[in-house]
Amino acid sequence: MKVLFLAAEASPWAKVGGLADVAGELPRALKNRGLEIRLALPNYPHIDPREFDINQQVDVPLTTRSGSTTANVVDAQGHLVDVLLVGGESITQNADIYGDPRLDTKKFAFFSLASLRACEVMGWIPDVVHANDWHTAAAVVKLNSLREDRIWGSSRSLHTIHNLGYMGSEATVSWEAFDLKMREDKRVPVSLQNRPLPNGLLAADQLSTVSPTYAQEIQTSAFGHGLEVLLSGRSDCLVGILNGIDLDNWDPASDPAIEKRFTISQLNSRGENKVELQKLAELPVDPEKLLIGVVSRLDHQKGIDIALDALLEILDAPWQIVILGTGDPDLEARTKRFEEEHPERFKAFIQFDLKLARQIYAGSDALLIPSRYEPCGLAQMIGMRYGSVPIVRSTGGLRDTVIDIRDPHSG
Ligand code: GLC
Repeated sequence: MKVLFLAAEASPWAKVGGLADVAGELPRALKNRGLEIRLALPNYPHIDPREFDINQQVDVPLTTRSGSTTANVVDAQGHLVDVLLVGGESITQNADIYGDPRLDTKKFAFFSLASLRACEVMGWIPDVVHANDWHTAAAVVKLNSLREDRIWGSSRSLHTIHNLGYMGSEATVSWEAFDLKMREDKRVPVSLQNRPLPNGLLAADQLSTVSPTYAQEIQTSAFGHGLEVLLSGRSDCLVGILNGIDLDNWDPASDPAIEKRFTISQLNSRGENKVELQKLAELPVDPEKLLIGVVSRLDHQKGIDIALDALLEILDAPWQIVILGTGDPDLEARTKRFEEEHPERFKAFIQFDLKLARQIYAGSDALLIPSRYEPCGLAQMIGMRYGSVPIVRSTGGLRDTVIDIRDPHSG
């Protein structure tokens, strides 16, 4: 089976959130299962071509309402995955992975359509076009319009929801420029009809999301962001498949980022990592204090504000916290303020730091994940792999992966 896997970010080349981990690791895992898979990724200017073995470069013409435009596509191999790096003006002009929302809509439509066209030019037509999140909805919509096409007529699409909260901004102008139609469908609120994600979810042959619980939750008004009627209407082709982590990449026995490597039979040596983390965070070094780690984007979704309020109620308990993450400026500021008020027990690293993240997984006693909603969540799985006990809200993939302590058998 040939699969074209499209994503806006993929580790290690372009990473903002959990989507990058899955897009970086899942294609390799599927390839090992015998699928012929290509990962299509925007060729952001920060990506270093020397990290790839290049097979070929092709110029891909795209027709637009006003004429045509060209994408430059590099067909390459990196980290044992076949990758299509899609470049072009829309991408160089808006070079951050996520930037101005309106320009992003245009950039990702360009990327999605150019990826399909590149397959045609290379004579490699996938059986499945696997789109991920709103960024790649245009590929799904385009494929749906090619039902009668000689080349694409037997290809089918899968659209995976990693986070329903992000639907992309109004796409009318840029989509029309590429001759892509928006669908008016009674199941979608009018205010959402011109946004990329709902259009992809209507056009896809199959839908999936990243945990069984989230697949159920998004069909309800509490978690559906307005798309619950559409999603429950399509429940016969919506499935929740739990993400995983790459156990070789996340392995405390061989992780070069951590002070003291360990296996499950040497959990005592984790203590050295805890001491190291307390020093790094300039917190009192004390093996007896519960050291809680948080590795998270600081977004409303992630519920850090809920945790800060709750911590104020247990100030008489002996805890310390190390938070690592960036995101919403207000939440960043609130977190920093908390640190100023409680410097002896609270440290906030407002930064993006892959090495420090690993040191937190390896050195914390517990990992706090207070998300309001969580499609899957990877940190809790990494925490368990590194011996840090996850304390999570019972929602989405957190609920599917962390067994409640009240479970008499295995909690
Ligand atoms: C998004 C979701 C997260 C999920 C990840 C990978 O970042 O918020 O829950 O684990 O995508 O699917």
